[in-house]
Order: sequence, then C-alpha cells, then structure tokens
Amino acid sequence: MSGTDLAARVAELKRRRHAVILAHSYQSPEVQDAADYVGDSLGLSRLAAKTDAEIILFCGVHFMAETAAILSPGKTVLIPDANAGCPMANMVAPRQLGEWRAKNPDAAVVTYVNSSAAVKALSDICCTSANAVEVVASLPAGRRTLFLPDRNLGAYVASRLGRELELWDGFCPTHERMLPEMADAARARHPGAILAAHPECRPALLAKADFVASTTGIVEFCRTNPAREFIIASEIGILHPLGKNSPGKLFHPLTSVADCPNMKLNSLEKMVWALEDLAPVVAVPPDIAQKALAPITRMLEIR
Ligand code: 13P
Ligand code: SF4
Repeated sequence: MSGTDLAARVAELKRRRHAVILAHSYQSPEVQDAADYVGDSLGLSRLAAKTDAEIILFCGVHFMAETAAILSPGKTVLIPDANAGCPMANMVAPRQLGEWRAKNPDAAVVTYVNSSAAVKALSDICCTSANAVEVVASLPAGRRTLFLPDRNLGAYVASRLGRELELWDGFCPTHERMLPEMADAARARHPGAILAAHPECRPALLAKADFVASTTGIVEFCRTNPAREFIIASEIGILHPLGKNSPGKLFHPLTSVADCPNMKLNSLEKMVWALEDLAPVVAVPPDIAQKALAPITRMLEIR
C-alpha cells in the first residue's frame, strides 16, 4: 500500500473504532499528519485525560502511552509498536528509587514523566519538561528534593530556581549526543539565527542557547518570535511541526544525529495493524496505576 492509501486506511479505521490518535512531535512526519493532535508529553497527557474516545492510539514512546492509560481508566490505549520505549525511562528501576528514598526519608521525590508507571507510583510529584520549573518551585524552598531520572533537566531546573536538587544520573541518549561545540559551529554557519534547545540537552549546551523549552514550547516560541531563522537543539522530528506552524521561516537542526530511534519505530503501517487488531494494548496493573495517578494529578493541578 502507498503512504496515501495507508493514511486513508488509518482515517477509516479511526472512525470505525471511535478512536483518537495522539502523536508526539518527534514522530515521523506521516505519523504526525495522521494524528488528531500533535504535541509534547504534557499536552498529550491532558488530551488523554479529557478525551471521550473509547480508544486512544498513542504514537509516542511507552511511558507516554502508560501515562494516558493511568489518566484514562476504562479506555483502551494502543501503541503502534510495543518496542517503542524510552532508554532514559529504563535508567531507573523501582527498586533503585525505593533504595534512594529509604536513604533520604525526609526528601521530596520529583519524577520526570520519562519514567515507568512503577517508578511514578513511588514518587511524590511528576513533571514534564514543560512544567518542571513550576513543579519544583511548588515545593517548600528548604525541602531536600530528589529529582529523577534526567540529570540534565534536573540541573536546568536547579539553575533556573537557584535551588539545590539531588539528581539521578539518567539522561536521554539522543539529546546527550548534542555537544556545546556544535552550537558554536551552527552559529558560525547561520549568523543571527536564534538557538532554541530542549532541556534534556547537556548543561554546557543549554548555557549557549537563547531559549529553552519543551517541544511544544519550542514550536510556539518559533511561531510567535519575529525572527526568521532558528537553530534547533532537539530531536529532529520536531522540524516537521516547526515547518507546519511557521511557514516561511528557516529551521536548522543543530545536528542530524539527534534522531530518537525509539520514537521512529511507529509507522503508518503499524498504526493500521494496531487499529485493526486492537493491539498492542498498553495496560498498567490497577494497584500501580492507582498509586501513579496521585503524583501525575498533583502535577496537572500545578500546570
Ligand atoms: P516533551 O516533554 O518536550 O514532549 O519531551 C519528551 C521527550 O521525550 C523529549 O525527549
Ligand atoms: Fe526518550 Fe530521548 Fe527518545 Fe525522548 S528523545 S523518547 S527522552 S530517548
């Protein structure tokens, strides 16, 4: 089947199944174009919480579909490829967080949503890259805080708030590949362009950025900023929504190697199979879902 035929088949099955399709901005262009909504992990969580659709086809990585399942009990959450995981989410296991908590019984635990449901279930509050600063700021200033799993996002939040955070040593392999010297080279190639970066990048790279935000934050910033030319330090899938939202502007990826292979496991063909077979289903055991819901809800109440 051609790409156009597959997209038509996805649309037909979506209607028949009363499904909604959510896609992260790092998905392939054709997957994003077949979705009802494209956004960052915060925006997609909010949509998952309020949709009336019976079936959510979540085109993203596993932790995002898990969050949708936790927020939408009773609905069926599908993911096109069950192997689309996030390596950063796998850098901390529930046992390790349990041990860290036990060593720091008085500390608050802030968990980035790029984590498993079982890790969220052991946390006080969750955050995404869009609201991490506000979430940490909501905790009493003198309270010791453990932040996991992303050491880069944690360091960024700590520097924004002038607070000390204890950081888990996790990171995103895709964002970690972007180096500060690439920013110097890109600025030399594109003088005058604005450098926008995702907070999963290394602190030394973020220090060179003009603007730091979540994926939706970057897309909105570039859309509303009067500048015409931008350098983007984020996963390269974001170039698609950037181009669609800001026609006529120029976007240069910091590097083409910032390509998340996990995000790209989903495809139009696998979307068709998922809607035909109603599989793979992403389900969270009820006891874990119930415990993980509290820190996610606390986050959504803040922003
Ligand atoms: P956002 O929260 O910006 O959607 O980012 C999620 C992610 O996995 C980035 O690598
Ligand atoms: Fe995980 Fe990084 Fe891929 Fe985002 S880009 S899903 S953090 S590996």
